[in-house]
Amino acid sequence: MGGAETKSRKDGGKEEVMAESMKGLKRTHRCGELSAADAGKSVTVMGWVQKQRNKGSIIFVDLRDRSGILQVIFEENDCGAEHFAKAEKLRSEYVVAVVGTVEKRAGAVNENLATGEIEIRAREVRVLSEAETPPFPIEEDSKTKEELRLKYRYLDLRRPDLQRNLILRSKIVMAIRAFLSREGFLEIETPILNKSTPEGARDYLVPSRVHPGCFYALPQSPQIFKQLLMCSGYDRYFQIAKCFRDEDLRADRQPEFTQVDLEMSFVDVDDVIDATERMVAEVCREAIGLEIQLPLKRMTWDEAMNRFGSDKPDTRFGMELTDVSEVVRGCGFGVFTGALEAGGSVRGINVKGQAEMPRKKIDALVEFARGYGAKGLAYLAVQPDGTYKSSFAKFMTEQEMKALVEAMQGEAGDLLLFAADRLKTVWAVLGALRVELARQLGLIDNDKFHFLWVTEFPQFEWSDEEGRYVAMHHPFTMPMEEDLDMLETEPGKVRAKAYDIVLNGVELGGGSVRIFQSDVQERMFEALGFTRERAREQFGFLLDAFRYGVPPHAGLAIGLDRFVMLLVKAENIREVIAFPKVKDASCLMSEAPGTVEPGQLEELGLALVKGAE
Ligand code: AMO
Ligand code: AMP
Repeated sequence: MGGAETKSRKDGGKEEVMAESMKGLKRTHRCGELSAADAGKSVTVMGWVQKQRNKGSIIFVDLRDRSGILQVIFEENDCGAEHFAKAEKLRSEYVVAVVGTVEKRAGAVNENLATGEIEIRAREVRVLSEAETPPFPIEEDSKTKEELRLKYRYLDLRRPDLQRNLILRSKIVMAIRAFLSREGFLEIETPILNKSTPEGARDYLVPSRVHPGCFYALPQSPQIFKQLLMCSGYDRYFQIAKCFRDEDLRADRQPEFTQVDLEMSFVDVDDVIDATERMVAEVCREAIGLEIQLPLKRMTWDEAMNRFGSDKPDTRFGMELTDVSEVVRGCGFGVFTGALEAGGSVRGINVKGQAEMPRKKIDALVEFARGYGAKGLAYLAVQPDGTYKSSFAKFMTEQEMKALVEAMQGEAGDLLLFAADRLKTVWAVLGALRVELARQLGLIDNDKFHFLWVTEFPQFEWSDEEGRYVAMHHPFTMPMEEDLDMLETEPGKVRAKAYDIVLNGVELGGGSVRIFQSDVQERMFEALGFTRERAREQFGFLLDAFRYGVPPHAGLAIGLDRFVMLLVKAENIREVIAFPKVKDASCLMSEAPGTVEPGQLEELGLALVKGAE
């Protein structure tokens, strides 16, 4: 066989097998594609050596590619001395080609391998590439520290769990494209070098060489462009869009991430919700065989906050919030009455059966609550004998305590936790506490997929830092018609035609009906404290476009990374992104961001300030 001979060279006394060519060979199958049905076939497989076991007269090699692992068996009788000698030298992660015959295993079937019933009896092996010993084993459920794995991400990506995630991600994207294209959506790309967009995070900026002192902003989303495409008559648009936001990273956030972004003309809330949930259902069916019941549940923002203390409620477990403000009004406990007098609220959760929770653990919960802005956390344990153990019993009468326990539907053995504060803080604290406790107590069934829509978001959110109302979604979101009158008088009460899709307590996506009337848009800008000039400067081209015939339109964007993360039940978004960034927004592999040559800065008309050098 031409080109297949072993070429050895003496190199510093160490004999090395030089890389061979695959000339004359063509891969016939992926490793994992073969099964007992292929017994007797002559095949050519190529991949990485997972493991080589030399038993003297017989050598076993586990060969791996993205489809799985296949056992190859070398005996001198079948492959001849030359190939046997090469098989003896194989080490982990060598890239090889093997020609052989599929056989049913003579030995025990390996139940752990999809190809466990068969093996390849090798006639020929070629070493296509040698490999140094990798810094960590290429294996499922790696115990290696993530920092090391990320530094060698190209090796980490060889591991079957990551390969499964990325293969599924590709399948999901294909399913999305197929669905949307069938529904008449056009895939259109929008620019990456932009003027600033209005999603409210910090922009990534790119200096312009041609226009010294000017900067492009990378898109936080294609929001304005997709609205312009509606003005241009494209009717139904989608894009698998890269978005960039310079914000603090969390388990479900990356500085660059991908949206399934869509926009539709001549539609209202229900149309977007309907198209989206059918898309989501189809993806779940095709990707992981999950059937979800449509239509999805809907809940107003008010209901979500009041029941779960969150606009992305995890409804896989109970422990809902109870408003006890009226029950404790006028009681003897200053913390409660003080909060109420200041216009706040007192609410609680009932942690069933946890009355015996040790003091240390409760203290840890109080600390946890402080992390969400609580000044403290009041507790009341209903003892098995019906008496109370509580941080505030001494301030309350027997009757007041009893009324409180009753309002909380407290029974012997329950632990009741209360937060008294501004309503916003009470929600944040109890909303987070309920999820934390459910995790600690194992109340969450990981096999459940609870989707729901949260609707009727407030149009505005008061910003303490800025001392003004800011748009909760973005400034192009349409208020609900019945609330339009309050835009100037009671902006805090105006509800928006905005909706989020939530899965298992994670915001999967969100969108809104857009304002398409210039008078409403102007009132919005005014309510947000935008001057006419600033609005023109930032969004002038959109406002201009609206003067030439704009269809009513609405849309939404799903966070693709989050969607995949939840479907594969990954703990972190990094597990479904090929080359993710870490907490400080750097890439441990490429070491981006990096410094640049002084000449590059000069060309851009930039100089570093002292300290940044
Ligand atoms: P929004 O800002 O809600 O809406 O973003 C839509 C979805 O994108 C995902 N997402 C992220 N995923 C990973 N890392 C991040 N840093 C990150 N930020 C957001 C979330 C979120 O629900 N233009 C509007 C959509 C519209 O109105 O049509 C927008 O961008 O899953
Ligand atoms: P204190 O009187 O400050 O010692 O508080 C008595 C109890 O009330 C303690 O258990 C505190 O943790 C709790 N507490 C203090 N502030 C609040 C608050 N804003 N909401 C709920 N509980 C609180």
